[in-house]
Amino acid sequence: MSFTYKNDNLYAESVAIKDLMPIYDSPLYIYSRTDIENNWRSFDQAFAQHPHLICYAVKANSNLAVLNTLAKIGAGFDILSGGELERVLTAGGNANKIVFSGVAKTTAEIRRALEVGVRCFNVESSAELSSIEAVAQSLNTQAPISIRVNPDVDARTHPYISTGLKENKFGVDIAEALDLYQSAQKSQYLSVQGIDCHIGSQITEIAPFLEALDKVLALVGQLKQCGIEVKHLDLGGGVGIQYRDEQTINIKSYVNAIINKVGEMPVILEPGRAIVGNAGVFITKVGFLKQNAQKSFAIVDGAMNDLLRPALYGAYHQVLPVEKKNQGILADWDIVGPVCESTDYLAKGRKLSLSQGDYLAVMGAGGYGFVMSSNYNSRPRVAEVMVSGTQHTLVRKRETITDLFASEYLYKH
Ligand code: LLP
Repeated sequence: MSFTYKNDNLYAESVAIKDLMPIYDSPLYIYSRTDIENNWRSFDQAFAQHPHLICYAVKANSNLAVLNTLAKIGAGFDILSGGELERVLTAGGNANKIVFSGVAKTTAEIRRALEVGVRCFNVESSAELSSIEAVAQSLNTQAPISIRVNPDVDARTHPYISTGLKENKFGVDIAEALDLYQSAQKSQYLSVQGIDCHIGSQITEIAPFLEALDKVLALVGQLKQCGIEVKHLDLGGGVGIQYRDEQTINIKSYVNAIINKVGEMPVILEPGRAIVGNAGVFITKVGFLKQNAQKSFAIVDGAMNDLLRPALYGAYHQVLPVEKKNQGILADWDIVGPVCESTDYLAKGRKLSLSQGDYLAVMGAGGYGFVMSSNYNSRPRVAEVMVSGTQHTLVRKRETITDLFASEYLYKH
């Protein structure tokens, strides 16, 4: 854990965050390279000798420097678009360690993925399977596939990020998967590799994963009886992190529980948040303090367009002062941004001592932070910095006002 206080100053590894602010300005995302590496290794090492591949879910944070950090230590990648594919390749990722998920892969995306040689397509419907088969045929090649099954398991997480229930759009009903495997097996352009499932995100207990795994293993047994040999199990992502004080999953116990059930079968995991979530913070500056009879508002320069999770999911992110000064106004502050929406807040009712000009760190912002940002209200997207020991590097420059409309045209007729 690299974001800690030393002498009342919040550090990112060995760099005091306050020292970065005159250089990079606010708002700002800061990532710890060491934490990213350690988090990936905690999955990788937990498997020890058991055959496995830890495919980082690129959607959680797709900055090239994050991908490059992971590629260098041997990570695989879980992608869901042609854009993510090109990012991974540009960052030095190995195509043979890429699994391609997502409900609606286009023909162009499938073709490109086949040309570069991804390890496996995680297929989400029979229509998609036909499309992959047709593209493979046009290239006179074989597409490696897994069927993503929907095990109808309640992940007991926020409904917006739960994916393994029958009512969700994801995957193939586990009862229908057998038929699909049989038709895949018959095709000379498809090569059955594995079986895949992903039941949701920010899951804080092991039980739902094991419930899904049992159902998947039952299907593996049925497939075997039909002469279909599955070569790997992809159990998706979803391991939750601590945002507040909640208990979450111990990675070693989670991996051990999987190993105990799967025998010799190679395992793929697709963790995103657990690798980057707590390896990043979002820094924002207090612009104005505004108090009325009921409420105390700290209006900061960061907003829902920069970090959407509180507005979209009511997500809780800890907010810490970059410098503990205790000279400001002590109150229960709502930390709100400048965007014209009532849901534009980063945190509510936080007991802090604040003054105008203070910097605040919104914790746990490394996953689903910058990637979900937008230009709403014509706000340029913020800069991203990566820290490693005493080094700090700009890994994405701040957008300028002219960047905002550089791709637009006036209507001249
Ligand atoms: N694999 C698949 C097929 C996925 O759909 C996802 C996440 C992952 C892996 C990675 O899951 P993770 O390990 O990060 O939980 N924007 C939401 C999270 C959406 C997750 C979407 N799928 C949030 O901010 O909480």
